[in-house]
Amino acid sequence: MKSIPIILLGCGGVGRQLLQHIISCRSIHSKQGIVIKVVGVSDSTSLLVSDDIMLTGMEDEFLTAICHAKSAGSPLKFLLNQSGHCQLFTEKEAVEKIVAIASSLGGTTGLAVVDCSASGETIDVLKQVSSLGSCVVLANKKPLTCAIEDFEKLAFHFRRIRFESTVGAGLPVIASVTRVISSGDPISRIVGSLSGTLGYVMSELEDGKAFSEIVRAAKSLGYTEPDPRDDLSGMDVARKGLILARLLGWRINLTDIKIESLYLSEFGPDSMSMEDFLAKGLSQLDEKLKERVAIASLKGNVLRYVCVIQDSRCNVGIQELPKDSALGRLRGSDNVVEIYSRCYEKSPLVIQGAGAGNDTTAAGVLADIIDLQDLFA
Ligand SMILES: NC(=O)c1ccc[n+]([C@@H]2O[C@H](COP(=O)([O-])OP(=O)(O)OC[C@H]3O[C@@H](n4cnc5c(N)ncnc54)[C@H](OP(=O)(O)O)[C@@H]3O)[C@@H](O)[C@H]2O)c1
Repeated sequence: MKSIPIILLGCGGVGRQLLQHIISCRSIHSKQGIVIKVVGVSDSTSLLVSDDIMLTGMEDEFLTAICHAKSAGSPLKFLLNQSGHCQLFTEKEAVEKIVAIASSLGGTTGLAVVDCSASGETIDVLKQVSSLGSCVVLANKKPLTCAIEDFEKLAFHFRRIRFESTVGAGLPVIASVTRVISSGDPISRIVGSLSGTLGYVMSELEDGKAFSEIVRAAKSLGYTEPDPRDDLSGMDVARKGLILARLLGWRINLTDIKIESLYLSEFGPDSMSMEDFLAKGLSQLDEKLKERVAIASLKGNVLRYVCVIQDSRCNVGIQELPKDSALGRLRGSDNVVEIYSRCYEKSPLVIQGAGAGNDTTAAGVLADIIDLQDLFA
């Protein structure tokens, strides 16, 4: 049996779902001759580590208890008494402990550090463990969208890093871009609708609804972040665009991306409460967007909120696109990515499907871990 020891950073919606997938896939993995051994789990305040990282990982029963406790809002440290086989480390001690485990396992049996946090602070530990020979798997975009030098340090170990779920959740966007690049087929343009929320907003706008109504409905349906401005700012799409642009070899930073926010700066979180934004701020954008939809429609086009990577530029915002293109036909919250290259010049390579959700994202992370199996003893 090949053993893949992992340390999971972050035990929120995606992290918990990953633990559940690992448990429910035990028999499938066993038939493939693989066992995933969870040796450590962290949240924002502490790290739990299995006593004997060389032999046993955490038991499935204990992993299930972690999932229950974290979904009930308890910190990991409350679980220490439920397992006699774990040690607890504070947030400050966690990095040192993870690096120590990477030193002992990284070059021998192997170790994968799996970042399902939403933190920008994991980059240092990820750089350290990867320089010690460990693998890194990410759902978290932030370590890949910080300074270009940090991205390059992680990407340098390209055989040991996977981050498929950072763009399009479980969709094979990164894999497709990487395969096209590896085949020597130069990519000239990538256009993607990479936010389920903004995909939904734009297709509802096309149906003639008012922007303010759509956003309020999306919030009540749970399609948006708690403060919808986190989606409407375009920052999340920009991070995904940056990851794709950097995959193409562009040495750019987030500040180099032109981002069109779907709200005016005077309605931002620093100047207006969310309640005021929903009640008053949003409706001030209705007329302008209605006009833009009508102008596009006269030309047989539709509006989509997309990331366009082309001619050394990465822009994020509303674009008019032909109604009969893959992006133009997009309805609802699916993600769509069109990749244009010499081989896919007139008819782009199109990847489409659900691009968010804990289940699909965690499934993408699990597939990334399994993809690294050949690096484990
Ligand atoms: N959900 C999706 O559809 C989706 C799709 C693609 C990518 N992603 C990405 O996946 C990641 C996880 O998403 P999520 O929805 O699970 O987020 P979440 O529910 O907010 O969970 C984040 C987790 O990270 C922990 N955390 C925060 N800082 C940490 C640190 N420094 N070290 C270790 N853990 C830390 C938090 O700890 P506490 O529990 O103590 O707060 C929490 O357990 C995010 O980066 C997100 O952008 C999500």
